Amino acid sequence: MKIHKNLSLKKYNTFGIDVCAKHFCEISSLETLSKALQLEAYSNKFIISGGSNMLLTKDIDALVLYINIKGKVIVSETEDDIILKVMAGENWHDFVLWTLDQNYGGLENMSLIPGKVGTSPIQNIGAYGVELKDSFTSCEAMEISTQKIKVFTKEECNFGYRESFFKNEGKGKYIIVSVNFKLTKRNHQLNTSYGSIDKELEANNITNPTLKDVSNAVIAIRQSKLPDPKELGNSGSFFKNPIVAVNVFEQFIANNPDAPFYKVSDNEYKIPAGWLIEKCGFKGKRFGDAGVHKNQALVLVNYNNASGKEIIDLAYQIIEEVEKQFNIRIFPEVNIIK
Ligand code: EPU
Repeated sequence: MKIHKNLSLKKYNTFGIDVCAKHFCEISSLETLSKALQLEAYSNKFIISGGSNMLLTKDIDALVLYINIKGKVIVSETEDDIILKVMAGENWHDFVLWTLDQNYGGLENMSLIPGKVGTSPIQNIGAYGVELKDSFTSCEAMEISTQKIKVFTKEECNFGYRESFFKNEGKGKYIIVSVNFKLTKRNHQLNTSYGSIDKELEANNITNPTLKDVSNAVIAIRQSKLPDPKELGNSGSFFKNPIVAVNVFEQFIANNPDAPFYKVSDNEYKIPAGWLIEKCGFKGKRFGDAGVHKNQALVLVNYNNASGKEIIDLAYQIIEEVEKQFNIRIFPEVNIIK
């Protein structure tokens, strides 16, 4: 186990924030993970994986464990579907592309989401009408205090919109080491009704789409709206779309009849935060090296050398302005490390 000292984390977080890990260790097996967690000389441990949903704001005075455990195996299969066990360190998008090459269906709408497989359940990643929970069957996680592996069923994960057990009661207690997915081998249930997927397929004259066609449509849409973290530091949607009670919604829509919205239940509505932020005039604005993306106002970007604090200051300026103009409070989706 090699432990590095004072290592920059810039390339380990998609926001590209340049802070230092006091100590850093790459973890490529369960055994090393267990051993590293038992190292008493380093009392504080900090877990990093894809680094795609976090905003680092200061140097990490801890032993940073970079989870990079690879591998995927078939757990079981029938003629109709397959259950795969995928280790936490597999890159999410590479894994999705691999499933499409095998003609396994279920993940195509979640193409090009940054990050790794192990962190996908934490916030129940989702895009274009599909969420991780739709194909997730279970995951294994190592309990930090005992190094024991525990299996979590889908119910135990308590998934919600960008929510799970691991973001709440389980926070800081477990490290997800593998995820099991159930994918289709035939009779794939394509989900093309969300927003612009149908339009994108139509524009390419595709009437009978394959899994790969849907994935390609999603990739094209994402590339037109969302910045590539390799070119412009970002963490995807910085904010969650607010879910408001029906009385708040009625007042809001009366004042803003052109606003987009989704009905969540009989008494709750979801309003796109990107729309609210754009209406407040922030879209495409730059403040030093921190900014709001020009094609999707939900995404904050690091033009080069923004500090975590600059990004947070911009986020709070946005939160306050949205609240002032619409009387609706929006909340960060990314994990802010203070
Ligand atoms: N909108 C604007 N201005 C903007 C952005 C959006 O007016 O700057 C409007 C759009 O015109 C549309 C509505 O808001 O009417 C929704 O926009 P979009 O379909 O782009 O989706 P979103 O609600 O802004 C969510 C996810 C994205 C995911 C897309 C597609 C959250 C917080 N974000 O964004 O997830 O890709 O739907 O499914 O739920 C991520 O989590 O990192 C992420 C990118």
